[in-house]
Amino acid sequence: MTVLVIHEDEDGNSVREFLVEPGEEFGTDLGVLEVPEDIQPGETLETHLGTEFRVRRLRGPDLFHHFERTGAPMVPRDVGLVIGETGVCQGDRVLDAGTGTGVLAASMARAGATVTTYERDPEFAEVARENMALANVAESVEVRAGNVLEDLDELVSSETGPNCGVESDESERESDTDAETDSKTKTETETDGDAETNADADTATDDGSFDVLTLDTGDAASVVERAPELLVKGGFLAVYSPFIESTREVVATARDVGLSEITTRETIQREMDFDDRGSRPSTAPVGHTGYLTIARND
Ligand SMILES: C[S@@+](CC[C@H](N)C(=O)[O-])C[C@H]1O[C@@H](n2cnc3c(N)ncnc32)[C@H](O)[C@@H]1O
Repeated sequence: MTVLVIHEDEDGNSVREFLVEPGEEFGTDLGVLEVPEDIQPGETLETHLGTEFRVRRLRGPDLFHHFERTGAPMVPRDVGLVIGETGVCQGDRVLDAGTGTGVLAASMARAGATVTTYERDPEFAEVARENMALANVAESVEVRAGNVLEDLDELVSSETGPNCGVESDESERESDTDAETDSKTKTETETDGDAETNADADTATDDGSFDVLTLDTGDAASVVERAPELLVKGGFLAVYSPFIESTREVVATARDVGLSEITTRETIQREMDFDDRGSRPSTAPVGHTGYLTIARND
């Protein structure tokens, strides 16, 4: 298990952070760390020069800082917005492009989704696969090297996977061997409406294959054109762009193809400074990262 080791200053700010593997000898500018085989989060290690490093479990926001970088990674707050606004959850099937560093893809997989992500640069795709392994989500993220635009026909006709709501019903049905539970499930299904209607809904062919579509590319509008075919009914589109021009094109396309609840927000945050003189927004540069457009397929 890869863990983080952190050296902090007197104020508790992390001033050195490294990823280390159990059993390795790791050289830092503050001395050499002998990492025990049975290293555990919460422990403290010392370098041969006596500098302390705290051991920390690797979690989502750490991926942003420690993934090998290729395409500009999405910052944790924007990942939070995408997940919050689209409701990505356990069992969702997500189509993502472009993979880039893979921060967004990995974060959605860690939230329980199965992600198919496209990266047109084969070397970036290879790095992204390694990043998925580091994030422990290699099983749930398929990194495809290629241009997503070239595969849209195939993607619109790929099989519909389970989404949050469907999966729990399905897995209940499949795993029920107990007759009592079985009859309870049937009763619940029937009280939801006519059983035949439910069966029809499950096999509906006019529904797309993905619960959520996330795009972080300059040519996102060309994918948005096919969003109604790619998404299940009620599924969400999230498009992230640092520029107004491409955002405007995305919004126009989303309107043209009939998506609903289209909103665009600038993602911007002010960090606060608290020191002996007082409290105020940080004088560091304003934190514009991009425009996030959300829309829904009805
Ligand atoms: C800004 S990065 C994406 C960062 C990613 N969201 C993350 O969190 O790490 C954009 C990536 O999209 C890739 N890309 C651009 N257009 C593409 C396309 N049509 N198909 C596949 N990948 C594409 C680029 O090569 C680049 O690596």
